[in-house]
Amino acid sequence: MSDSILTAVAWPYANGPRHIGHVSGFGVPSDVFSRYMRMSGHDVLMVSGTDEHGTPIQVQADKEGVGPRELVDRYNQVIVEDLQGLGLSYDLFTRTTTRNHAEVVQEIFKQLVKNDYVFSKQAMGAISPSTGRTLPDRYIEGTCPICHYDGARGDQCDNCGNQLDPLDLKNPRSRINGETPKFVETEHFFLDLPAFTESLKAWLRTRTDWRPNVLKFSGNLISELQPRAISRDLDWGVPIPLDGWEDRDDKRLYVWFDAVIGYLSASIEWAHRTGDDDAWRRWWQDPAARSYYFMGKDNIVFHSVVWPSILLGYNGQGDKGGTPGRLGEMGLPTEVVSSEYLTMEGRKFSSSRQVVIYVRDFLERYDADALRYFVAAAGPENHDADFTWSEFVRRNNDELVAGWGNLVNRSVSMAAKNFGHIPPSIDPTDADRALLQTVRASFGIVGDLLGKSRQKAAITEAMRTVAEANKYISDQAPWKLKEDSVRQGTVLHTALQAVRDLNTILTPFVPHAAQKVHETLGGSGIWSAMPEIRSVSEPGNDDYNVLMGDYASAYESGTRWESKPLASGTPLVPPTPVFTKLDPAIADEELARLAGEA
Ligand code: MF3
Ligand code: ZN
Repeated sequence: MSDSILTAVAWPYANGPRHIGHVSGFGVPSDVFSRYMRMSGHDVLMVSGTDEHGTPIQVQADKEGVGPRELVDRYNQVIVEDLQGLGLSYDLFTRTTTRNHAEVVQEIFKQLVKNDYVFSKQAMGAISPSTGRTLPDRYIEGTCPICHYDGARGDQCDNCGNQLDPLDLKNPRSRINGETPKFVETEHFFLDLPAFTESLKAWLRTRTDWRPNVLKFSGNLISELQPRAISRDLDWGVPIPLDGWEDRDDKRLYVWFDAVIGYLSASIEWAHRTGDDDAWRRWWQDPAARSYYFMGKDNIVFHSVVWPSILLGYNGQGDKGGTPGRLGEMGLPTEVVSSEYLTMEGRKFSSSRQVVIYVRDFLERYDADALRYFVAAAGPENHDADFTWSEFVRRNNDELVAGWGNLVNRSVSMAAKNFGHIPPSIDPTDADRALLQTVRASFGIVGDLLGKSRQKAAITEAMRTVAEANKYISDQAPWKLKEDSVRQGTVLHTALQAVRDLNTILTPFVPHAAQKVHETLGGSGIWSAMPEIRSVSEPGNDDYNVLMGDYASAYESGTRWESKPLASGTPLVPPTPVFTKLDPAIADEELARLAGEA
């Protein structure tokens, strides 16, 4: 059965290079999922882009002494290259500064106003006296009125855990430059979240198979909904599409309001770029379509409450009813797949304190698949997880190199040396059949786990099967069968068949290596399709780069989630290693680099 599956991946801010903590939360898991789903015959649409508006951009632009446009152009480019380097198979990775995006955001906003889910109101807001710009709650620091902790933030106190209003803080100051914020009366637009209480509850009740942490967290949020401001005093962002507001250069839509709409606008842009303007509807308006949203846990509220509310409001399905806008009624998330945090050597990633390894630097020194494997096997799927260099080296050497790489290498080299081709299997024994049986069963087990985004369990099962195949070779000791070439050939055929099928199973996790193994076994053409950087244009905008790719052709030519028999007689040549063994000394070198000594 071929379903339409939307993989919606959190949009990284274009305010700096991304580090491996970022990409382990949203990037790698969403790609593993999408690749598996495509191999299973589903129509996957994987979209995202850089998040380029709002305070996070403005603050960094000020810091670097450039305008926001220059800043986002620079980091969009860096991020696009990083994600390509990791082999993340986006159907479209775009940006939020496109004309298309602004139009879709404005269409949604206007319909929310029409359906009465957005209202405007005077509110007290903090501004920075030196710049005149809004100072968001979390950029204000002061003394907690409840526990008197001095480092409380305007949105909450990390010491006592209470939610705060910046107006409550004693001795408030800006975390950006230390100045005392000014509180002024200003008009803002609010999303009327309480008007979605019943409709959200009804929807959430149908979402039974989410990860328990996400479900619980979302349930709690819904019990205490407050209207949320969706405009800001800024000049960088999507203009507010109402008479008297559109031309003002001091008010913009809130970055989170525009960013989540990116999933829809990117789908629409993708459809346009592929020549069928309506193609996006299959993922948004077909009741059988499913959508999976991948992100780190700090993003949950926006995906399990804010975005569903925006969609319900646009559809006219909030507690106050209404009518759908001109794009038509849209489906809500099937699943919000959130990961926890990755730390580094026991500490929070921090660019300013240099506890960081950027994707770019990582990829200059190590293979993308080594990182992808680490994230799948030891990443923050359900708990916070720690990246340490020694554990990275150990997993690379013991599991990838000595486990999977060794299985490929020894089976192919023995067959190449002794036969020069894939030998036939003649009169297989119970042991031969048992191994192939185990490997075939893995398709079901691993596939089932991947469908439920239990990637850690999935890779564990796959690597357990790799270990069984290695054990089979050791037990059968084909190197001792020089006198019995028929039996030796049968053992090697069996081992190679296991390699072929295990390579299929490992493809979503380590797609670059999978391409190599495919070729090592005599395969040709593209096995693992990779994203390409394309320059695109739209009216009224400068050309920009996106990631796109042709992933469907690989499926058509055989990259499928199924066991496939090897063709005996296929020529084989001695292989080159699939993975690179790392010198354990690099762990110390990297630690020294972290400490700023190298
Ligand atoms: N830019 C946000 C972050 O890095 C994520 C935005 S996800 C989106 O935390 F869906 F809203 F775009
Ligand atoms: Zn407190």
